[in-house]
Amino acid sequence: MLPLTDRMRTEVAIIGAGPAGLLLSHLLALEGIESVVVETRSREYVESRIRAGILESSTVALLEAAGVGERLRAVGEEHCGIYLQWPGERHHLDFLGLAGRTVWMYGQTELTRDLGRARDAAGQRFYYGVSATAVHDLHSDRPYVTFQAFDGREVRLDADVIAGCDGAHGPSRAAVPVTARQVWERTYPYSWLGILADAAPSTDHLIYAWHPDGFALHSMRSRTVSRLYLQVEPGTDIADWPDDRIWEALATRLGHGQDGWKLITGRITEKSVLPMRSYVMAPMRHGRLFLAGDAAHTVPPTGAKGLNLAAADVALLARALTAMLREHDSRLADAYSDTALRRVWRSTHFSWWMTTMMHSTGDPFDAQLQLTQLDWVANSTAGATGLAENYTGPPSARAEPWSRPDDTPAFGRVALPRLTCSP
Ligand code: FAD
Ligand code: DHB
Repeated sequence: MLPLTDRMRTEVAIIGAGPAGLLLSHLLALEGIESVVVETRSREYVESRIRAGILESSTVALLEAAGVGERLRAVGEEHCGIYLQWPGERHHLDFLGLAGRTVWMYGQTELTRDLGRARDAAGQRFYYGVSATAVHDLHSDRPYVTFQAFDGREVRLDADVIAGCDGAHGPSRAAVPVTARQVWERTYPYSWLGILADAAPSTDHLIYAWHPDGFALHSMRSRTVSRLYLQVEPGTDIADWPDDRIWEALATRLGHGQDGWKLITGRITEKSVLPMRSYVMAPMRHGRLFLAGDAAHTVPPTGAKGLNLAAADVALLARALTAMLREHDSRLADAYSDTALRRVWRSTHFSWWMTTMMHSTGDPFDAQLQLTQLDWVANSTAGATGLAENYTGPPSARAEPWSRPDDTPAFGRVALPRLTCSP
């Protein structure tokens, strides 16, 4: 028997229930705009996928203004800086003193759960576990999405606009014809091996460590869970890295035993290898299809920008779609791609710069350049301020950027109020 075809209608069809899709549906709902979210994975999978962990202060301000910052404030941790280190040296960069801003440690898993709960409470329509998602009639004012629901039904979802929030491998990016887009990309000659461990963090703030054996990063998720990364060869087989080898490499690269500092170890509960890539596609729009987050751009993880860029994109997009659908004013929608790409390129440069400065290439000349660069960043106010400004992120013009269609978003011009770091 042929599957039934269901037909539905909404204002904004959102593809992808990652941070970009969920936050967009939430911001739109605050403006009274209806959306439907379709997602290939199960909700459990999306909510337990271990990914990013650092939120810029403007992302935090956005989440709070949107009413989804309560748990973040309660269980997240504010970080006023990071440590930058190389063999024999560890320097603290004080973000609050240098840039007047901080970052927050809050796992993407937690943020995804908060957004999911907020959308449940508002009666959001979700379709998890879908397949064969496709977009159609992007140049008409009645574009639509088709997909097969988890129970096999064929569904057609008509909309005014489609938001492609489906990450780097979804159908939205691929739906933009090659002749209508420009792409910039770089693949880096290293990967990260990331672990999650039941171990209390050995540090108050993140440690970014340059080492001739390769980069290491000590991050965390809570007072009892650490998140750590090691630079490894691309194509690394995780089976070649038993737990003992991972802890040994982390201890060496992070400086266990130096000046009495100790790396606390524990049971490893998750292990994965991440490739490192920069990718930007422009424009971030094709007809009535708007791309946001990883669907339009990917950054290497060094510098923790991916999730923050996704949040910044959808803040702009929600505002633009509100003006377009409620006030029949398409100026912000027309400017969306150019406006978003300014921040995307700043973060793309910063991620590339951090990646290039921190990862060992095996070339002695590169190593000397990296060490002099690190020395300059750590010991010059100008160098340290540059890193601090970029790491904490460009300030948002306002906490509710999506609700003011009449002003241009500021970029690096408006300072956020000075914060004090919680103990
Ligand atoms: P995603 O989170 O990728 O969400 C896209 C969603 O679309 C997914 O749920 C996907 O299942 C869904 N989808 C895909 N195809 C379809 C389809 N055909 N139909 C319907 N739905 C579809 N950033 C950091 O800052 N720090 C980190 O440590 C870090 N680690 C990462 C580790 C990994 C393995 C990856 C992949 C990314 C990591 N990132 C990290 C980047 C960060 O997690 C992303 O930038 C962020 O998730 C972007 O959010 P998004 O909503 O745009 O995309
Ligand atoms: C984390 C990941 C990063 O890429 C980074 O630069 C900082 C923190 C993390 O997963 O905690």
